[in-house]
Amino acid sequence: MTAPKLALSDTAVTETTADVVVIGTVQQGEGFALAPGSDAVDEAFDGTLVDVLKTLGATGKAEEVVKIPTLGRLPAGLVIAVGLGSEATPEQVRRASGAATRALTGVKRALTYLSAVDLHAAVEGTVLGAYSFTKYKSSENGDGSVARVDLAAEGTKENKAVLKAATAIGEAVTTARDFINTPPNDLFPASFAERAAALASAAGVTVEILDDKALRKGGYGGILGVGSGSSRLPRLVRLSYKGPKASKKVALVGKGITFDTGGISIKPAANMDEMTSDMSGAAAVIASVLLAAKLKYPLEVIATVPIAENMPSGTSYRPGDVLTMYGGKTVEVLNTDAEGRLILADAIVRAGEDAPDYLIETATLTGAQVVALGKRTAGVMGSDEFRDRVASIAQAVGEHAWPMPLPDELRSDLDSRVADLANVTGHRWGGMLAAGIFLREFVADGLQWAHIDVAGPAYNSAGPWGYTSRGGTGVPVRTIAAVLADIAENG
Ligand code: BES
Ligand code: MN
Ligand code: ZN
Repeated sequence: MTAPKLALSDTAVTETTADVVVIGTVQQGEGFALAPGSDAVDEAFDGTLVDVLKTLGATGKAEEVVKIPTLGRLPAGLVIAVGLGSEATPEQVRRASGAATRALTGVKRALTYLSAVDLHAAVEGTVLGAYSFTKYKSSENGDGSVARVDLAAEGTKENKAVLKAATAIGEAVTTARDFINTPPNDLFPASFAERAAALASAAGVTVEILDDKALRKGGYGGILGVGSGSSRLPRLVRLSYKGPKASKKVALVGKGITFDTGGISIKPAANMDEMTSDMSGAAAVIASVLLAAKLKYPLEVIATVPIAENMPSGTSYRPGDVLTMYGGKTVEVLNTDAEGRLILADAIVRAGEDAPDYLIETATLTGAQVVALGKRTAGVMGSDEFRDRVASIAQAVGEHAWPMPLPDELRSDLDSRVADLANVTGHRWGGMLAAGIFLREFVADGLQWAHIDVAGPAYNSAGPWGYTSRGGTGVPVRTIAAVLADIAENG
């Protein structure tokens, strides 16, 4: 959890006091070449580095890690060559930096030349690759992450600004990961709200917390209904940041289910533990406002975060209940496991009252997202133009996402016998889109909005890869950061 100390360095590789030197390799035809920046390292090997690497089985394929002892040729004892695949794109640099950093555990100081390919990506990949969640281990198994990484780059004003921004973005992702990885017995609505508030106050971000009493007074029927089965009562957290010369107002909303059992429509036991990650959307938007404040984006950013625990009990809401949502619309609950959209509906209406220019909302909303797009590609829905803008920015920053439609014919499938609408359709097709259509009913008219379903991408249940650790991934923090930066620049 301790982030490595990062610094720009233009010290020659023959002079560095780093213990390990990291370089990149790029596939080329049948073979591979050294990535830009590795010339001086190659010289120390009399120009034989590619041959040495070949002997060791290197191919340059993405995230391949090959270690070469320097045997006195360089002051550093070890060179790590990490594959960039066939094209050294920023995302490949990020992944290679992550993979290299994961191979640096126990190392005091490393010097990387991946920064010579792309400084911003190398910084993000290094910060994220160094991340691990050890808070609940009585002893840190292994050596812990690398203590210090020098990034080969001149200390220009521009490079310093890149280092600062990329470090802040990487740390915002790790803030989200920490929230997600905190187990649900310790992270419940009140404690989540308090932790978010503590970080916000420290960052100069304004905090408002509505507890259950305030939620009742305000008429937040969705949040209260979902939260009614738990002894740990729900919250609505509002975090506001107003930057210097704020040009646009952006509303953020994120799903904060601290644990999703499904409620009375209870989930099967297999993998239910992963529902500790059902507050990933909330974690991402909280981290994003803090980041906006840290980087002083010239925007007004207001996060509205509904937080509840979805539990079955004698006080739970039931299938058949009708909830009166914030703003007055009524919803018939046909499945208590479709709870995310209920808490989000309240929050989206509340967020709309601030008359924002844009609304970005994100949630681990549907298993159907995972079925449609898999574990690494988020589904983006919303108003056409903004949806496409968010999806293409997400692709560009390497948090894969794809635009999805909201087909009108699905709306009538949400018609309810007794209420304004039902929370689920009576069929299984288009489940991700049906959830988006449900949310659309609560978005203020004319508001440009994007809904990012990260049910798959938010949580890595497999082994670590690239810069992605096991558990919470922090997706889509980098997308939100990039969209905010884009709005700040282009309106
Ligand atoms: N939190 C889940 C969605 C989810 C599933 C997230 C898998 C991450 C991984 C959500 O609350 C849920 O249970 N959705 C239901 C909706 C259904 C009842 C219409 C689902 O997807 O099965
Ligand atoms: Mn659910
Ligand atoms: Zn859920």
